[in-house]
Amino acid sequence: MGFHTYDVGNADALDDPSRFRFLSVEELLSLFDPRGTIADLGSGTGFYTDEVAPHAETVYAVDVQAEMHDHYRQKGIPGNVSVVTAEIDDLPFEDGALDGAFSTMTYHEFASEAALTELARVVAPGGSVGIADWSRNGAGTEGPPTSERYSLADARQAFTGNEGFTVEQGDERFETFVLSVRRTADQKSGRSSGGS
Ligand SMILES: C[S@@+](CC[C@H](N)C(=O)[O-])C[C@H]1O[C@@H](n2cnc3c(N)ncnc32)[C@H](O)[C@@H]1O
Repeated sequence: MGFHTYDVGNADALDDPSRFRFLSVEELLSLFDPRGTIADLGSGTGFYTDEVAPHAETVYAVDVQAEMHDHYRQKGIPGNVSVVTAEIDDLPFEDGALDGAFSTMTYHEFASEAALTELARVVAPGGSVGIADWSRNGAGTEGPPTSERYSLADARQAFTGNEGFTVEQGDERFETFVLSVRRTADQKSGRSSGGS
């Protein structure tokens, strides 16, 4: 598991509005605070980026596949969204540059200690991160094979094991799980978490 890419030839499937059955915009916005400078981790064709952008100051749509950004450009990218071609474990942002981040249906593709450590570096103390993905406990009729997925417990353990994050809430659903985490205090700067 960990890093692998989505078939660009199937990019159109990412723009199917029936996907809201698995994760509505309202649910996504309840997982993290979209205000400020936000990154969409594994943004694909920008299906959810477009929904978050009206609530944010700036959104960085991060994807390792430049072809996904080409697809997004063809649709039209909102003025406050910038595309960034990068891997999540090596992000071109300054320390603490982001107020928050989110990721939809991609955690299974980037989950690694290195990626979470990099995320902790770029999200400012107190910032929130929302994750929604296909669950290992789901039926597997949609999305990737269950053998390639993680459960809520797996994701919770990964974030709990990283000293940069505190898990705030999570839910295991029928096909998907959702998780909210917060960037903890930065011991070097002394900035505390939770105060916004
Ligand atoms: C299943 S698609 C989901 C796209 C989008 N989040 C959505 O819900 O419509 C996963 C996307 O994440 C990207 N991706 C996978 N692993 C990545 C990584 N390690 N760093 C950056 N992007 C990654 C893939 O290129 C692909 O575009």
